[in-house]
Amino acid sequence: MSHSSNLEALIRQMPKAELHLHIEGSLEPELMFAIAQRNQIPLRFPSVDAVREAYNFHNLQSFLDIYYEGAQVLLHERDFYDLTRAYLDKMASENVRHVEIFFDPQTHTDRGVPFETVIRGIHRALIDAQTAYGISFRLILCFLRHLSEEAAMQTLEQALPFKQWIDAVGLDSSELGHPPEKFKTVFDRARNEGLLTVAHAGEEGPPDYIWQALDLLKVSRIDHGVRCLEDPKLVERLRQERMPLTVCPLSNIKLCVFPEMGQHNLKILLEKGLCVTVNSDDPAYFGGYLTENYRATQQALNLSVAEVIQLAKNSFEASFMPLDIKQAYIRELDALLQDSLSKTS
Ligand code: ADE
Ligand code: ZN
Repeated sequence: MSHSSNLEALIRQMPKAELHLHIEGSLEPELMFAIAQRNQIPLRFPSVDAVREAYNFHNLQSFLDIYYEGAQVLLHERDFYDLTRAYLDKMASENVRHVEIFFDPQTHTDRGVPFETVIRGIHRALIDAQTAYGISFRLILCFLRHLSEEAAMQTLEQALPFKQWIDAVGLDSSELGHPPEKFKTVFDRARNEGLLTVAHAGEEGPPDYIWQALDLLKVSRIDHGVRCLEDPKLVERLRQERMPLTVCPLSNIKLCVFPEMGQHNLKILLEKGLCVTVNSDDPAYFGGYLTENYRATQQALNLSVAEVIQLAKNSFEASFMPLDIKQAYIRELDALLQDSLSKTS
């Protein structure tokens, strides 16, 4: 077997965690059509293929417009269940052992879908997949940053009766012009309620947005964060704190954050000693789930076995799981690395 097919097999088989996944972004066109039909919602596309052909993005906003449009087929608890279950079935087949998924309640409540309908469907699928496959999970509620902080606060109020099912709050949608500081009060409130915090920062936005996420929103992870390299002091801070970055390589290429995968800065981030993780963001829109993100990145950047394993170890280290479980996965990955090195030497 060639070196690269060995690495592909390793990537598929190694235990890994996904920490940056918008559940609405896992809506495949086939399921979008099936749900639209049963909910009798008209779609402007004549076919599944026509939907896929529309997935040509030139920046974050051009993607978000079509992502919010697709999500409009989701109405009932069953729809959110089917969406989440389809994602988890795929993750089981890729040996993903743990997921921390985002959901965007405002995308649904603003259309009249009750918060409760959304979270009940998602949560039931997470529980069922945990039973069926042993995949553990956390759930992260994201506020839409193009809307007001008052709207985010109302969403947090709606969420509090379900606090037992929610581990953290996050911040997503249109980054430029919507800095983290806009959401300081609602993040303070969420932390007072015992929730952890994360935020998208430094995807399209400047390093200053990453500083704000750290200092004002007191995040446990930065989602994306790839623009940190423009600020050496920030890189040093991220390295010293071992602040995780949930990087999404295929997303970054599709949204033109980098012109091509060979120019992605993931390997440089790793070499600077940052806690980089690989994630899929919105796999139905960006052309690949978690394994494909690892595979495409490994190939384009010529990552070594040790670097691939380091990324998987980072995914557990950066997760919100208990320390002893993290350590067990990290030991398993260290053993895989030793095994792999002994075979090639
Ligand atoms: N919502 C879904 N995917 C997103 C991304 N990559 N950035 C910001 N908001 C998002
Ligand atoms: Zn994202």
